Amino acid sequence: MIILIMFNFIGKGGVGKTTSAALSAISLSNKGKTLVVSLDPAHNLGDVLGVELSEEPKRIAPGLWASEPDVDKIIREYAKNISEEFKQHYKYLRVLNLDKVFDVLEHTPGVEEQALLQKLMELKNTDFDYVVVDNAPTGIALRVLLLPQIMLTWMNYLLKLRKDIVKRREIVEEKKVHDPVLELLEKEIQELEEFDKYLKSKHHKVILVLNAEEMPVLEAIRIKDTLNKFSMKPCAVIVNKLIIQDTSDPTLVSMKESQQKWLKKIHEEFKDMQIVKLPYLPVPPKGVERLRELAKEYLGEGICKV
Ligand SMILES: Nc1ncnc2c1ncn2[C@@H]1O[C@H](COP(=O)(O)OP(=O)(O)OP(=O)(O)O)[C@@H](O)[C@H]1O
Ligand SMILES: [Mg+2]
Repeated sequence: MIILIMFNFIGKGGVGKTTSAALSAISLSNKGKTLVVSLDPAHNLGDVLGVELSEEPKRIAPGLWASEPDVDKIIREYAKNISEEFKQHYKYLRVLNLDKVFDVLEHTPGVEEQALLQKLMELKNTDFDYVVVDNAPTGIALRVLLLPQIMLTWMNYLLKLRKDIVKRREIVEEKKVHDPVLELLEKEIQELEEFDKYLKSKHHKVILVLNAEEMPVLEAIRIKDTLNKFSMKPCAVIVNKLIIQDTSDPTLVSMKESQQKWLKKIHEEFKDMQIVKLPYLPVPPKGVERLRELAKEYLGEGICKV
């Protein structure tokens, strides 16, 4: 069976994640059916591609689809489904007047990450060869990728507690007890374990996007270290907005020198990864055709050996 390959673009705000994701998706679409999807609530994928996008994947070039799902709607629907499920299994909450707790679930810390994780899990099961994910700036994207492992730690603990409860009920009732909550926990744990394994496999590619400046470089190093701790290894670094032209403008000369210093640090820190360098362009790259030209010029060897 052919397994879909997912690419997650992560980096500090404004460094060029959306541009790099669009560029890579165009390059990948020469090799297989590709979807580029924005999971940033403040979408600009459509602006970069020069196409109006919506929730439904839209075919924008041969082999290439793009979409901008309504992230707030994903979160609202996720919270609604969870509330319904809880209300069904824990009917006594209504008696205690606690069911209103679930009505505010969508605003609860952590729910946004869970809803986005759910979306990634859905994307993995689509019939594309490649799914390219344009993420919101670092924090949330990183938390979503780490979430399965974190959730599994406490869900396995919950499973143990629930099994103890069921065992006691079986002793009291002197018969086998069918427990829907236990079943649900087991099902969710299995799904999470599978996805966690997938995220750590060769089918999941993390690409760090940065500029050759202090803050984006330091942030990318932190992301790499955190991912490594959770057994995920980024495969490529895209250094965007490099000043490459000859110039006598003193400001540009000084920026160029500073970038060269940070570029050296990038080569040291990310030496075992593919390093793609994209120039600072006088006109911001937009539109499928312009991006295709750039992909040909700078992503000729592909991304992450794909
Ligand atoms: N190589 C480049 N040369 C010139 N301008 C660029 C380049 N790459 C990106 N830009 C411009 O920089 C801005 C930020 O780029 P982009 O939206 O790709 O970054 P981002 O990391 O996705 O930002 P955000 O964190 O806001 O989502 C855009 O206006 C884009 O057109
Ligand atoms: Mg973006």
